[in-house]
Amino acid sequence: MILEFAKAVWFILPAFIANAAPIIGYKIFGKFNAPMDFGKKLGGKPILGPGKTWGGLLFGLFAGTLAGLVQTFFQPQGFPLMNTHLALLLSVGALTGDAFGSFIKRRLDFARGKSLPGLDQLGFLIFALVFAYPLAKLSLLQIAFLLMVTPVLHVGTNLIAFLLKLKKEWY
Ligand code: CTP
Ligand code: MG
Repeated sequence: MILEFAKAVWFILPAFIANAAPIIGYKIFGKFNAPMDFGKKLGGKPILGPGKTWGGLLFGLFAGTLAGLVQTFFQPQGFPLMNTHLALLLSVGALTGDAFGSFIKRRLDFARGKSLPGLDQLGFLIFALVFAYPLAKLSLLQIAFLLMVTPVLHVGTNLIAFLLKLKKEWY
C-alpha cells in the first residue's frame, strides 16, 4: 500500500514542482515580467489578475520538466516511468489548472492572493492528472491518496514560502 502511494508521489512530483516554482520565476524576471492576461479585463474584472505572469509560467514549466529529467536518473524499478515529455505534460497541466483557478476566482470577485479552499490546492492536481492521463494511468486508490495529501502538502509548502518571505500569506 505504502509503495503504491510512493509511486503516485513519484508520478506527480513534476506537477508539484511546476506549481511551487512560479513564485521564484516571478522574482527572477522582475520588471521584465508581464501578466499572462496583459492586464486585460473581462466584464470589468481581471481575466486572471496580476498573480499569473509569463515569467512564473515559464519558470514553472522549466522547473517541472527539469524535475522530471532529474527523476529519470533516479528511476526506481517498478515505479511509473518518468520522462521529460511526461514531466512537461504534467507541468503544463498544473500551470493551466492554476491559471484556471485564478480565472474562476476573478469571476467570483476574489482579489489576487485570496484563497478559495479546494480550488487552490486541487485545481493544479486535477488538471495535471487529466493532461497526463493518456501517458500514464494511476489507480483510483492512488488518485484518492493524492487528492487527500495534496492539500496538506500545499499548506506545508506555502508555510515554507511564507517563512522564506516569498509569500505574504501563510496559507
Ligand atoms: N506566479 C506567477 N505566475 C504564475 C503563477 C504564480 O508569477 N503563472 C507567482 C505570483 O507572484 C503569485 C505567486 O506566484 O502571486 C503565488 O501563486 P498563486 O498562489 O497561484 O497566486 P496568487 O497570488 O494567490 O493569485 P490568485 O489569487 O490568482 O491565485
Ligand atoms: Mg494563492
